[in-house]
Amino acid sequence: MTARKLIIAIDGPAAAGKGTLARRLAQALDLPYLDTGLLYRAVGRRMLDAGLDPENHPADDQARRITLADLERDDLRVPEIDRAASLVAAQQKVRAILVDTQRDFALAGGGVLDGRDIGTVIFPDAPVKLFITASPAARARRRWEQLAADPAAPDREAQIARVAAELQARDTADAGRAVAPLRAAEDAVHIDTDHMTAGEVLAEALRIVRERTGCP
Ligand code: DC
Repeated sequence: MTARKLIIAIDGPAAAGKGTLARRLAQALDLPYLDTGLLYRAVGRRMLDAGLDPENHPADDQARRITLADLERDDLRVPEIDRAASLVAAQQKVRAILVDTQRDFALAGGGVLDGRDIGTVIFPDAPVKLFITASPAARARRRWEQLAADPAAPDREAQIARVAAELQARDTADAGRAVAPLRAAEDAVHIDTDHMTAGEVLAEALRIVRERTGCP
């Protein structure tokens, strides 16, 4: 399938399966992929590196300095950055600064972008919008597995419960903030990935892309 210049917006809460789907969809359609959460993570990283607490300090200077090269850092998906990213993502100025970075990314050749506000704020006219969800239990288990957790750990259930509580706290912050809260666009197609494999989610997404774009 060719999909030149097509923009696909994928939103949803943490650990629902957005990233896996977005990467696979981009590959299947030969489109560039941008994980927009990494932008906020990179800003959070710069704040911590500068010794600034993102809860009390504006992060606009750090946001202005972000380039796509910052997203290559391998220390962005760590727990201390989860919190820092969520805090800087609640700052209106930071979001405003990063709007152009996200739009420019897909301007030339289209793209698959995943985040929280892609279908509502960044690309409200995207022809394909997907909202990916999963139950809190399934999300906690997946995130725990991603953290390279030991399946035989004696306190496995307690560890998963801790991850569930962290996800819940982040959801509440992301969905409850005043600017660009996590929310499905009215014309988004919802996919609940609870009882689906990654391959099934991809197949369903490709079916929706075909339906929405008329591409064979
Ligand atoms: O998807 P993630 O966990 O890597 O996102 C990190 C943080 O950034 C998360 O708290 C939500 C926020 N975020 C956002 O507000 N808007 C986006 N488009 C992407 C992420």
